Amino acid sequence: MSTTMNARLLPGTPVAEAILARVADGVAQLRTAGVTPTLATVLVGDDEASAGYIRIKQRRAAELGFASPHVRLAASASQADVHAVLAEFNSDPGVHGVLLQYPIPGGLDYDRALQTLDPDSDVDGMHPVNLGRLVAGLPGPLPCTPAAIEALLAHHGVPVAGREVVILGRGATLGRPLATLLAQKRPTANAAVTVVHTGVADWSRYTRRAEILVAAAGVPGIVRPEHVRPGAVVVGGGVRYAGRRLLPDVDESCARVAGAITPRVGGVGPVTVAMLFRNALRAARSAADLVAHPLGDGGGASSRHPQSEFRRQQRT
Ligand SMILES: NC(=O)c1ccc[n+]([C@@H]2O[C@H](COP(=O)([O-])OP(=O)(O)OC[C@H]3O[C@@H](n4cnc5c(N)ncnc54)[C@H](OP(=O)(O)O)[C@@H]3O)[C@@H](O)[C@H]2O)c1
Repeated sequence: MSTTMNARLLPGTPVAEAILARVADGVAQLRTAGVTPTLATVLVGDDEASAGYIRIKQRRAAELGFASPHVRLAASASQADVHAVLAEFNSDPGVHGVLLQYPIPGGLDYDRALQTLDPDSDVDGMHPVNLGRLVAGLPGPLPCTPAAIEALLAHHGVPVAGREVVILGRGATLGRPLATLLAQKRPTANAAVTVVHTGVADWSRYTRRAEILVAAAGVPGIVRPEHVRPGAVVVGGGVRYAGRRLLPDVDESCARVAGAITPRVGGVGPVTVAMLFRNALRAARSAADLVAHPLGDGGGASSRHPQSEFRRQQRT
């Protein structure tokens, strides 16, 4: 980071650690009650980066006390093979959360596979039922990166309620669900949210007035100091990978203008992973009918979606 930086840093690592410590407590409580929280992982193909992410998540799962069965399918696996593995986990009452590592090899349809997953087992919070719950304001696992950004801002005491948030990007993973989340009527949200994208040619007209600017475009260096209101809070959500090199949306020179900014490495990413385990704990609690209270460490959900309840009754 440049020596002319003025901005306060908003690191994600302490936020993730705080969340994971609470998850570990929740896991221990479940184990004491005789339930082994179980997070299954599925990897399709030979992508080394994906295999590395799965290894990190499995190691962390073990540290937190989760059981973590793993299935690795060959790159030659068919769509039906992927669906069969997910169906197997869906029908196993001992498996509470399931992670299908993204991406899966070309020729296979990730979204279609995700739709076969029990929405209550969806630890990424990206199943269409869960996105629908988010929009409807119903309990359910939250999409990890948007939830991570809300948690990061709350942890660092950045007020969001009543402030002008501008999100650059309307993608399904980040911009769109984040806009919904931060506009909700809750103390850590409740913002005036604007979303800009390629359809808004002069998007900097909006970002320059943002009190909180979230980059969610996946275009390296797209956010530059001239796009930032002096003193604003800048959150780097969008990243692109060049091999293992991480290329963030936010150019580091923005730290000269911003009042607070997430670091280039160790910002939103670690909190996103922590949210995945929070969703997994939520799923285990919910399955064990040890109900989490709203906005607690279980992810703020106690009730099941009727479709999932139906499936659960079918298999018990
Ligand atoms: N930090 C983390 O842990 C984490 C986790 C998940 C995802 N991400 C990152 O989040 C980013 C967004 O992912 P996503 O799947 O939600 O989005 P996406 O589907 O990749 O869409 C990107 C969005 O950015 C907009 N955009 C792209 N170039 C632009 C430009 N030059 N000017 C204005 N708008 C532009 C696009 O506009 P149009 O809609 O008009 O095309 C689109 O809405 C990605 O970089 C992804 O890697 C980070």
